[in-house]
Amino acid sequence: MESLVNKNIILGVTGGIAAYKSAEIVRHLKKSGSSVRVVMTASAEEFITPLTMQALSGNRVSTELLDVEAEAAMGHIELAKWADGILIAPATANTLARLSSGRGDDLLSTITLAFDGPIALAPAMNQAMWRDSRTQENLDSLIGNGFTICGPDSGEQACGDVGLGRMLEPIDILDSFSSLFDQGVLVGKDVLITAGPTQEPIDPVRFITNRSSGKMGYRLAESAIQAGAKVTLISGPVNLDPPSNCHLVSVNTAKEMYEAVMHHIKDKDVYIGTAAVSDYSPIKSHDSKIKKDGSKSAMVLELKENRDILKSVSELKERPYVVGFAAETDNLIDNAKKKLNHKNLDLIVANDVSDKNIGFDSDDNEVTLITQKEQKLLEKQTKKKISNKIIEFISRRIND
Ligand code: C5P
Repeated sequence: MESLVNKNIILGVTGGIAAYKSAEIVRHLKKSGSSVRVVMTASAEEFITPLTMQALSGNRVSTELLDVEAEAAMGHIELAKWADGILIAPATANTLARLSSGRGDDLLSTITLAFDGPIALAPAMNQAMWRDSRTQENLDSLIGNGFTICGPDSGEQACGDVGLGRMLEPIDILDSFSSLFDQGVLVGKDVLITAGPTQEPIDPVRFITNRSSGKMGYRLAESAIQAGAKVTLISGPVNLDPPSNCHLVSVNTAKEMYEAVMHHIKDKDVYIGTAAVSDYSPIKSHDSKIKKDGSKSAMVLELKENRDILKSVSELKERPYVVGFAAETDNLIDNAKKKLNHKNLDLIVANDVSDKNIGFDSDDNEVTLITQKEQKLLEKQTKKKISNKIIEFISRRIND
């Protein structure tokens, strides 16, 4: 838990029987080198006294939204500015519901709205309340908004029920909370990623393109940013929001993508080409819409081959670690290995696009990572999890 040294942590305590364990959480936080300020909801005070938490944390416990002792009487803003991280343990079903709907009707909920860093919640409630679909929907929404959920555990509950809903043990909560402050595996690294399709114009209203949602590239950008990398994302036209903290360069054609890559490649540590670049583009792109005059039953479109961006990057004198993607319908591994060699790549990520349940528009994927020495299958899982594993794999190779 070294990552908690010198961190300012707000421990939020809400009204559940597990609140008695919050005292131990304060002790662990202090032992790991953090400064701790405890914020309690009104119902938490029914379970454990502010005096106990004050004695353990060595700081005044805050309970009121409007606090005459806070500078400008805005304790929530002061506390949100002070904190490096927030841990709410226990987090009751009511707390999850209020936070997921963005309520700011007491000090703790308001701080979470004003705070812009990592927030972890350790749920604690009766097993039926935990299983309730509304609680599960609230959790999904909280996770979607960047909250980290630690637990819950399963076992015997204070009410006598047995099931999932017990708060995790304090030491396990601290383990997972402290990992939010771990230095990322790509800290100090510059990563360039291409994503999405390209569009090669035939005339102002028609183009040749490839099937690609861009999801894999965008998820990889997100994972690389979370791992601490500086990320430039060169993207063809997609319907996705770029991850925050990334430098997005939007392009349309393969030529524009090639030029953008060559412009940004200098000093990059890693290049990941997920883009579905058009292999060919029309030799002539008409300035005005080609009319259908009814005299021809066929039309010839002359195409020229586009430059292979990935291969051009791997041929650079000072090349980064180069990663390509192979979307194949047949002989997945053999074709991917051929591409690995032909394009002189460090790593190729092979996926079978003939399987309708993965790839293309899906949120899931199953891929095989292939290098000259290794072959590793990442079984079907979300593109986000696959991305995290690819980034981890790359970081181990470049940090060795
Ligand atoms: O040869 P193929 O198109 O199957 O190779 C796929 C890999 O090559 C992907 O990583 C893709 O981004 C990259 N590529 C490229 N430039 C091209 C064609 C493909 O960078 N013109």
